[in-house]
Amino acid sequence: MHREHPMAVLPAGYEAAGRATAVAHPNIALVKYWGKRDEGLILPVTSSLSMTLDVFPTTTSVRLVDGSGPDQVTLNGAPATGEALRRITAFLDLVRERCGRDLRAVVDSRNTVPTGAGLASSASGFAALAMAAAAAYGLDCDAAGLSRLARRGSGSASRSVFGGFAQWHAGTGTGPEGDESSYAEAVPAARLDVALVIAVVNAGPKAVSSREAMRRTVDTSPLYGPWAASSRDDLADMRAALVRGDLRAVGEIAERNALGMHATMLAARPAVRYLSPATVTVLDRVSELRERGVAAYVTMDAGPNVKVLCHRAQAEQVARAVREAAPGGTVLVAGPGPGARLLGEDG
Ligand code: DP6
Repeated sequence: MHREHPMAVLPAGYEAAGRATAVAHPNIALVKYWGKRDEGLILPVTSSLSMTLDVFPTTTSVRLVDGSGPDQVTLNGAPATGEALRRITAFLDLVRERCGRDLRAVVDSRNTVPTGAGLASSASGFAALAMAAAAAYGLDCDAAGLSRLARRGSGSASRSVFGGFAQWHAGTGTGPEGDESSYAEAVPAARLDVALVIAVVNAGPKAVSSREAMRRTVDTSPLYGPWAASSRDDLADMRAALVRGDLRAVGEIAERNALGMHATMLAARPAVRYLSPATVTVLDRVSELRERGVAAYVTMDAGPNVKVLCHRAQAEQVARAVREAAPGGTVLVAGPGPGARLLGEDG
């Protein structure tokens, strides 16, 4: 039994086989993934680029057991139900199909991010599950293969396999060609010493899931096509800015890409609006900081929370300003974090 994260108790008659524990961190996209060209395989319309964080890790254990019962999944100590259980079971089915084994799994996942708050808990969750399940079932895959596998759980999870900055290639085509060509890889950005100030202005679950909002945007928003086209340019500009270590350019591109993504949702029918009054107050404060010469740039995902990209040396100053602007919220400073990894028996 793993010391820090005890497994769920096995029902009588089950016999343990392989097991593994993995940890992964969330990532925040600077060029967003918003829209699928294939829902089943989770193939995106555009490529995206993110920074993996050093906060809010997810630790997931997978233990294989004999028997024909259902998978047993525990999330933060409580049995998983509904959509969460369905997605995890479907993911395990995929792993079983790949390795030709039909053993059931006992999964225990511990998440430190407020689930459903637009802080990408599905990214760290499926990256950790992909790594732990691949190890427990003995699936042989390299980093790109693991990223491809994690993608099938949640698109953004493909990027959390890697530490620092990562680009998820949209790939080409559909079916097996699309699947093979769509994975993330690490992007070097050695000269960039950045922090992400995270302002959690509302930690509650969101009204519309990102999956549903994304689908509705692609299907109904007249702004979706133009955003996707400009996102391709944003990605090329972002790659170049990262190579130069140019924080101002990185921040400007990230901010315009995120605001554009939210514009596509506002134009969806019916509209999806994640940004709240508190979000806008934080955005105003970041604009003020910039007017005073501080390089600080915002990005927002499928929720009201704001992440502010800035120099690491100015992160505390930015965090103070954001805290004043959102007194009821929680503000913390994150840096670039590590890729997914397996834990030994001693953690
Ligand atoms: C706004 O990866 O959660 O955070 O593939 O449907 O599981 P599914 O979506 P998910 O979407 C993340 C969207 C985003 C932008 C991003 O992370 O790139």
